Amino acid sequence: MSADTNNTDIVDLSLKVGLSVLGVVLFFSFFIFSGAVSFESPKPSANRLAMLEAAALERIRPVGQVRTSIEGEGQASEQAAAAPKTGEELVNGACASCHATGLLNAPKIGVSEDWVARNEQGLDGLVESAINGLGNMPPRGGSSLSDEEIRLAVKYMSGL
Ligand code: HEC
Repeated sequence: MSADTNNTDIVDLSLKVGLSVLGVVLFFSFFIFSGAVSFESPKPSANRLAMLEAAALERIRPVGQVRTSIEGEGQASEQAAAAPKTGEELVNGACASCHATGLLNAPKIGVSEDWVARNEQGLDGLVESAINGLGNMPPRGGSSLSDEEIRLAVKYMSGL
């Protein structure tokens, strides 16, 4: 009888020990977990995600593009010759990925504070930076635009 009681006590005791160990483990894992969560950078904002996506797309953008249709080719090139792209179109095609969102700290289009200091060097200086590249901006913003097109794009972008 006393052996039974002892057994029950041992079972009881080991249950208690087991439960306390579990409790302690849960307790600490809660802290470790919440610590890990708060060590992470604050929730990435939608804006930041969009910027990262734009950067990734920019990096994997093909250098050349293959035209798969020759339909209307003559007309298309005539049109292109007749109607050169406007600064806005050029910017939207080649520069907006960074300059619309301020990606990599690019001065934003339409945000005059971003341009005041830069514009002091004049249009020629800005065009030169854009052609040669500056800081995080690759030469010609990574595009194959001509000097003249870059100038149009810079004019539109800077408001000069
Ligand atoms: C990959 C991102 C990216 C693209 C694409 C890009 N830029 Fe930039 N651009 C930047 C960054 C970043 C800066 C700021 C550089 C700095 O001051 O270090 C900048 C700065 C500039 C400046 C200011 C230069 C100065 O002297 O202060 C001009 C002008 C400019 N870009 C024009 C363009 C034009 C035109 C295009 C498109 C043909 C273009 N950029 C495409 C990232 C980009």
